[in-house]
Amino acid sequence: MTNIQQAHTANHSEDSAVNPKRIAVLGSTGSIGTQTLDVARRHPQHVKIVALSANTQVEMLFDQAREFSVKHAVLADEALCNTWKARFAEIGATLHGGSQAIVELCQLPEVDMVVNALVGAAGMRASYATLTAGKQLALANKESLVVGGDVLMPLSSHTTLLPIDSEHGAIYQCLLGEDPAEVARLWVTASGGPFRGKKLADLQDITPAQALSHPTWNMGRKISIDSSTLMNKGLEVIEAHHLFNMPYDKIEVVVQPQSAIHSMVEFTDGSVKAHLGTTDMRIPIQFAISYPARWSAPVEPLDFRTLGSLEFSAPDLETFRCLALAIQAGNTGGTLPAVMNAANEVAVAAFLDERIPYLSIAQLVESAMDHAEVEPAQSIDQLLEVDAETRAYVRSLIQPHE
Ligand SMILES: NC(=O)c1ccc[n+]([C@@H]2O[C@H](COP(=O)([O-])OP(=O)(O)OC[C@H]3O[C@@H](n4cnc5c(N)ncnc54)[C@H](OP(=O)(O)O)[C@@H]3O)[C@@H](O)[C@H]2O)c1
Repeated sequence: MTNIQQAHTANHSEDSAVNPKRIAVLGSTGSIGTQTLDVARRHPQHVKIVALSANTQVEMLFDQAREFSVKHAVLADEALCNTWKARFAEIGATLHGGSQAIVELCQLPEVDMVVNALVGAAGMRASYATLTAGKQLALANKESLVVGGDVLMPLSSHTTLLPIDSEHGAIYQCLLGEDPAEVARLWVTASGGPFRGKKLADLQDITPAQALSHPTWNMGRKISIDSSTLMNKGLEVIEAHHLFNMPYDKIEVVVQPQSAIHSMVEFTDGSVKAHLGTTDMRIPIQFAISYPARWSAPVEPLDFRTLGSLEFSAPDLETFRCLALAIQAGNTGGTLPAVMNAANEVAVAAFLDERIPYLSIAQLVESAMDHAEVEPAQSIDQLLEVDAETRAYVRSLIQPHE
């Protein structure tokens, strides 16, 4: 049975209206985290939030913990945690500190599902803990699969792993009821980001503010930069490879600037199924939680009469090197995607801090990949070691320019 079929069977056996799904939201103060809480707010009969985590935004975490009456909250910043424990205790919640506490949150007996909305490879241990504990995983943290897909996916055969990324949620829905052997290609759509149509010479002096202004989606800072470089699409190709067990030569990227088509699946008879919808992340978040049911959503429905034309084009791999590099890393496999991802995380952070120019992001990713000695991916510990070594290497490349 495929992962998708198992999810269908597992979810049909429970009545969420009688037994609300008990959810831990990791990264509850971020873009996906706050939208997940919005979904929960609208469906209290189906969803009960039982645990939350944040990195440093403790006041927002406190307000969320009070609103949802959670018993457990985690702040990754341990020092800050100690100064807030008493306040959380006053509202009946225990505040835990540190990244290990996030892992333990995923394993609490009262948690049915973990929404992993952490950013970066920092989310991988939580995905691993969730799957090994046999909990359902609603995954926004694509870096988990980019870095650890070889290790994580075999664990998902015992539970359900539902993607939150709109592209993967779309493909998931297009594949329902289909035979994977009859899939010819997955078409992952890309908006093209804020610099669609630009050439390398136009991108020399791009500032963080310019790169952060995405045309169709309002997202966290890291993914916004990744969307502008098209690295996000590269990460999504690797994510699709793992989630749908699809070889890279059957995954295509197509630029669809209106973002109305969230992705498509082409079958061996030439038929194509597309998933369309309003650009609102609450829809794919909710689907990952509600599946196989569909609940009402407070979004403007698509009006095809006013949609206008839909455009399609091939991505520009010369200008947007990060997409080509990510696909290369995915194709090579082993530890190379971990190297590529870690280099990108360090480079994006340095760009946001205005320590490197925009075009250095791709250059640093390429340097790290050239420098890497690729091994088969074997364990989470090994991949986290590769992640740490790569971060140190890329920081050493950035240092001289500071
Ligand atoms: N945003 C979107 O529309 C979207 C769409 C598809 C997929 N995704 C994916 O979803 C994930 C989250 O994206 P986002 O845009 O929601 O990010 P975001 O707005 O930056 O939020 C990240 C969350 O993770 C917490 N966090 C950050 N670093 C952490 C660390 N080292 N340890 C523990 N917690 C940490 C943050 O806490 P603080 O607030 O305290 O810093 C925040 O709650 C990413 O993998 C992204 O690629 C996002």
